[in-house]
Amino acid sequence: MKTSGNTILVTGGTSGIGRALASEFHDLGNRVIITGRRQELLDQILSEHAGMSAYRLDVDDPADIASVAARVTAEFPDLNVLVNNAGISRAESLVDGEFDLSVAEALVRTNIMGVLHVTAALLPVLQRQATASIVTTTSGLAFVPRANYPTYCASKAFLHVWLQALRTQLSGRGVEVLELVPPYVQTELAGPEQARDPNAMPLVDYIAEVIGIIEDADRPGGEILVDRVKMLRRAEESGRYAETYNRLNGA
Ligand SMILES: NC(=O)c1ccc[n+]([C@@H]2O[C@H](COP(=O)([O-])OP(=O)(O)OC[C@H]3O[C@@H](n4cnc5c(N)ncnc54)[C@H](OP(=O)(O)O)[C@@H]3O)[C@@H](O)[C@H]2O)c1
Repeated sequence: MKTSGNTILVTGGTSGIGRALASEFHDLGNRVIITGRRQELLDQILSEHAGMSAYRLDVDDPADIASVAARVTAEFPDLNVLVNNAGISRAESLVDGEFDLSVAEALVRTNIMGVLHVTAALLPVLQRQATASIVTTTSGLAFVPRANYPTYCASKAFLHVWLQALRTQLSGRGVEVLELVPPYVQTELAGPEQARDPNAMPLVDYIAEVIGIIEDADRPGGEILVDRVKMLRRAEESGRYAETYNRLNGA
């Protein structure tokens, strides 16, 4: 994927990684379309970025996705990059009496079905371009999970597997499938304290490293891996899975 001259739609563009990535892509000379549910943030971000566009979109709502996708396809027929970044994270207790299936359902609806619905709705316009890219945000926790975030980690592992199949099925059809695999990053994903946690990677550093990897023509495979996430991504193949899992889970 080139880093300028694209028309890029970013889901989850109102905060954190999506917002920072959208801003960076805008500054690099791309036409950027952000989406999210919080209208006041969409308005604020547009006021700070001349030429950026925005649509209010709830990825939990397939009808909303269909309607926004139809408008985007009509207004931006040259859309060639989709960044599937919207996501939620929730801790869960699975012990007797605390097991709340509604939390798991919400995670599956947003993190899994949201990505599948948005991809299905925008694939036709992406496939009309000479070349296109689908970038989807998973997590280092797809590779070594945290036991207190069971469905969150499983939702990202699902996406990792699904993206491999998508990549294979779309190979030779002009659509590149990339997986953005963040480590723990300073955003408000798990609450305001995460954005100040010194153990999390500063957001500006994360975005700078990601752009560098995207620009690198020699980037291997379809995964965008910053150095900090390689410990999780490579744990199994380097024989450190049990040790890494135990360290992550305080065992
Ligand atoms: N930060 C980390 O440590 C970390 C690590 C690994 C992976 N990730 C992944 O990175 C992605 C971005 O997270 P973040 O850290 O940047 O957190 P964030 O600041 O909370 O961003 C989440 C984004 O998703 C959007 N979103 C959530 N539910 C939505 C829905 N139903 N419909 C539409 N948009 C929705 C939010 O927008 P609205 O609320 O405006 O809808 C927001 O823009 C997520 O997929 C997350 O799992 C983050």
